[in-house]
Amino acid sequence: MNAVLDYLQANQKRFVQELCDYVRFASISAQPDHQADMRACAQWVADHCRRIGLDARVCPTERHPIVLARTPRRKGRRHFLVYGHYDVQPPEPFELWKTPPFEPTLRGHSLFGRGASDNKGQNFAHLKAIEAYLQTGTELPVDLTFVIEGEEEVGSPSLAGFLQAHRADLRCDAVVVSDTGIPGAKLPALTYALRGITSFQVTLRGPARDLHSGIFGGSVENPAMALCRLLARVHDSRGRVTIPGFYEGVVPLTAHERKQMARVPFNREQYRKFLGVPQLFGEYGFTPNEQRTARPTFEINGLTSGYQGEGSKTIVPAWARAKVTLRLVPHQSPVRVRKAVVAFLKRHCPPTMKLEIQGGHGAEAYMVSSQSADAQAALAALRQAFGAEPVLLREGGSIPIVNQFRAILKADTLLLGLALPDDNAHSPNEKFDLNLFAKGQRMSALLWRELAR
Ligand code: BES
Ligand code: ZN
Repeated sequence: MNAVLDYLQANQKRFVQELCDYVRFASISAQPDHQADMRACAQWVADHCRRIGLDARVCPTERHPIVLARTPRRKGRRHFLVYGHYDVQPPEPFELWKTPPFEPTLRGHSLFGRGASDNKGQNFAHLKAIEAYLQTGTELPVDLTFVIEGEEEVGSPSLAGFLQAHRADLRCDAVVVSDTGIPGAKLPALTYALRGITSFQVTLRGPARDLHSGIFGGSVENPAMALCRLLARVHDSRGRVTIPGFYEGVVPLTAHERKQMARVPFNREQYRKFLGVPQLFGEYGFTPNEQRTARPTFEINGLTSGYQGEGSKTIVPAWARAKVTLRLVPHQSPVRVRKAVVAFLKRHCPPTMKLEIQGGHGAEAYMVSSQSADAQAALAALRQAFGAEPVLLREGGSIPIVNQFRAILKADTLLLGLALPDDNAHSPNEKFDLNLFAKGQRMSALLWRELAR
């Protein structure tokens, strides 16, 4: 093990350069213009896996390829999957980036670039740990398969089919994922719950075309106004969602969970400043950490209508649209929640408008025991790598595919994140802390020894 840890320490500089090469790909899964970047990035990952000694291939899907890389299978060894994604969120708005999103830049002990934290850097830490085993000739105590996909940020539409098709080959004892957060650089965490998600677009159509607002305005309802009124009905004054049936099935937080959460150092005023809001807001009766990790939400992610260019244009727009996602918690059903939302919108859509709802992806929330032998092994690895007692966390983000790991591969997922709250995931100036990159590599190296037992 010392050879492995020494190798990691001796090669940090090169690892960071390699991570820069990885972040340079504009692998934006949501934008069709970046198809070529996606393919090139997948190829780079596979080549890199081969270079460090893994058997790797690029598997095409209907949209973005999946990279599969593995160590040889040996009888009697436990087998683990390491899941990650090479796709990233769109970098817009460009003008808010201090350095361009796909020109990775070192500032202080952080690497800035889209995807540096979510998820390239976090997943790359595992690859570097395996490299250390393979290149020092240290026997790896478990068998490993890396599944690195290119569609996580668009809801993983191809991966479930891929798991189904390869389920015999991918059968494993558990899945390891570093794609979540930790409360602070010195406070490691094991995440035992993620929120689910369901998404759609709501469009209200009024007049057949944009109209002169002086000539016709006043005699026709404005779709932007109608959409604002419709969506404003979704919350009451105490931050609760008013849609009948929305909270059906929600498992209340236990006293024990609330106590665990309260252990994480938290300062309301600091949090307010960090978010840059004049005042915090959220569902009455819950702390901000409970609100953002363990309570369901209804969010508008994008709102569009009418003229968006320079200057003014006096029109009544023909339509208005909102992109909406809901975060779900155990045991809300995405299908039932969606039905409740559609019924609500239909009931309250004014007769002046035509309502269109277009569906997107959906995933249930995820919860896993933190008491299992594998969870305890993960906690031991975190403890050793960080030299601190890990906390147990629920997280607000979603990793849709973990449900399929359970359903198709019958495997639980160990969520061992390395992202800091201020990593700016999905925001301008995303960064990854290079100390955590190094700690993540150590954690991964130690983890396989712990899990082999
Ligand atoms: N890494 C995140 C998920 C995450 C972040 C979980 C922080 C817990 C804490 C992942 O890349 C992500 O952003 N997922 C999307 C999924 C969606 C597009 C279906 C999300 O949560 O918005
Ligand atoms: Zn993400």
